[in-house]
Amino acid sequence: MALAVRFHDQLSHNSTASLGDEILAGFAARPKWASPKFFYDRRGSELFEKITEQPEYYPTRTEELILSLAAHDIAEIAGPEADLIELGSGASRKVRLLLEAMRPSSYLGIDISEDFLRSSTLQLAADYPWLDVHALCADFCDELHLPEGFDSVCPLAFFPGSSIGNFTPTQAQQFLTRLHCLLPVGSGLLVGVDLIKSKTVLEAAYNDAAGVTEAFNLNLLERIRCELDSDIDPRRFMHKAIFNEGQSRIEMHLVSREAQDVTIKGRRFHFEAGESLHTENSYKYSLASFAALGRSAGFESIAQWTDPQQLFSVHYLQRSV
Ligand code: AVJ
Repeated sequence: MALAVRFHDQLSHNSTASLGDEILAGFAARPKWASPKFFYDRRGSELFEKITEQPEYYPTRTEELILSLAAHDIAEIAGPEADLIELGSGASRKVRLLLEAMRPSSYLGIDISEDFLRSSTLQLAADYPWLDVHALCADFCDELHLPEGFDSVCPLAFFPGSSIGNFTPTQAQQFLTRLHCLLPVGSGLLVGVDLIKSKTVLEAAYNDAAGVTEAFNLNLLERIRCELDSDIDPRRFMHKAIFNEGQSRIEMHLVSREAQDVTIKGRRFHFEAGESLHTENSYKYSLASFAALGRSAGFESIAQWTDPQQLFSVHYLQRSV
């Protein structure tokens, strides 16, 4: 039997060092911040999967609904030769809808969380024996290279879940521009984008009653404590998620419950009572503002799909030149 999944690693081999450097730099900044990409250790990835099952968290199930209805149109636009690349593949559930409609010959999953990537791509290889499965462990905030052996003439890149919302619009434009360079002319880019809506609905989605988002946010501190030789105590911080209407983004913070000092890798940091560590932005777009962002990176907007309540959208962009 052939090797089920071809695994490629592009993460800087010293990922603990990079976690450490980036976290230390963020704690030293004013206001303090930490990149949301650090949420996704094993436990963080599992907690995120649980978030997607919460009744208040509408994005995942809405995107799934949109994709289940649009999959055949998407396959038709992509054409019979298209292969599939998934950015931030996570549990790779939504991509199954596309795989079944498109029946591509190869699939490449890219994710920062190595063991999660391994198990989800192995599962795909087991479920779709006709599919040539590749996995690339990489941080797509850095420069990306398609791995050797995955040479698709006409890839469709799928960036689901509104992960693009973690970037500021400027960073999103830079990221899309890098994808524009990476993908051959004629390639498609399918992006899930969360839409602007009422503050009540948005804030409920990031403050679920079961406390899963709170646990997800606090897990970042647990990760720092375990991996970066730190005495930081998650119980001394509070989860906060608010919609910043002016910036059109959900902000997640960890707010210090009291004045305290914490040590990370031998360095001391002071928190005032009520001082926050900003852990995530999740930008929300209108259909038109996202299409404009794509155009600013050289992509043409080919099609857009939404649900009847206009909660979420899926955009088909194409690199035409
Ligand atoms: C994975 C970035 C799309 O912003 O909704 C969910 C992450 N954070 N709940 C989002 C998240 C808190 C999620 N993204």
